[in-house]
Amino acid sequence: MSSPLAEKVPIAGARYSRFTARPMTGSFGALIGGIQIAEALTDETLFADLRAAWVRYQVLLFRDQVLTPDQHLALGKRFGDIQEQGYVGSLAGHSGVWVQEYPALYQGPVNDINWHSDSSFRANPTRGSLLYALDVPEGAGDTVWADMCEAYADLSPAWRQFLEPLTAIHDNVAKNFHRIFDSMGGEALAKMRKFLQPTEHPVICTHPESGRRFLFVAELMTREITGMSERESRAVLDFLFAHQTRPEFQCRWHWEPNSLALWDNYSTIHRGIFDFGQSHRLMHRVSFHDHWRPA
Ligand code: SIN
Repeated sequence: MSSPLAEKVPIAGARYSRFTARPMTGSFGALIGGIQIAEALTDETLFADLRAAWVRYQVLLFRDQVLTPDQHLALGKRFGDIQEQGYVGSLAGHSGVWVQEYPALYQGPVNDINWHSDSSFRANPTRGSLLYALDVPEGAGDTVWADMCEAYADLSPAWRQFLEPLTAIHDNVAKNFHRIFDSMGGEALAKMRKFLQPTEHPVICTHPESGRRFLFVAELMTREITGMSERESRAVLDFLFAHQTRPEFQCRWHWEPNSLALWDNYSTIHRGIFDFGQSHRLMHRVSFHDHWRPA
């Protein structure tokens, strides 16, 4: 039986009034050209077009952007409510501009940062992020996203029907539990647990803005399918984790200093490629939410 994607028409590029959008893959991701995104802070038409492009392409990528921390934060505020607390600290004087600095960040107990959708373990996960590169290793340290609308569309009707009523448990320590336990101890883990409770979400969701159906599981934080035995759940999740990360659904981005990415965190998953050893990689990130409960 041929894949449903055999009849697929690749997503087209577009010219918006102030910028161009060039597709990065057959289904999602676009390289935006011709603007400084900071101009969208005061230009309503530009912001509306950018938002429309973001909903259409899910991941927008930019080169050579000049963005101060104040502008970065203000842009995030245009897209949603700023997520002040993250897994890293904020820039001094700029709460909400998270500083992701490697290799330091990659030396703690949570060092298996596999495919994920940010904070999917929360009742209201992150809506999107603006990640800005300040210093990047030459030729390394890319980020890869995968399109969960396409991963869903590619499933056979039988699989879609099977998954439709299912829910899954998303857990912040699902993947790194033993490393955290060994390095921090049970008491610290129990404390952490109090603040970061696992959450149940549907396996298939409908995007609140585009109305598209998408697969909402990912290896880093999806612990188990609700109501199944460990063996059953493992079999289903192993299939979904392998399926959703096929190269056909991926968009890989090579950073340069002053590159920027804006992604939809509901209908895409991502992972950083940590192939740069002890080299320096410094990113500023602003994440925002819109209080949607996956459904
Ligand atoms: C992340 O895993 O959320 C960040 C991705 C990156 O730094 O490339």
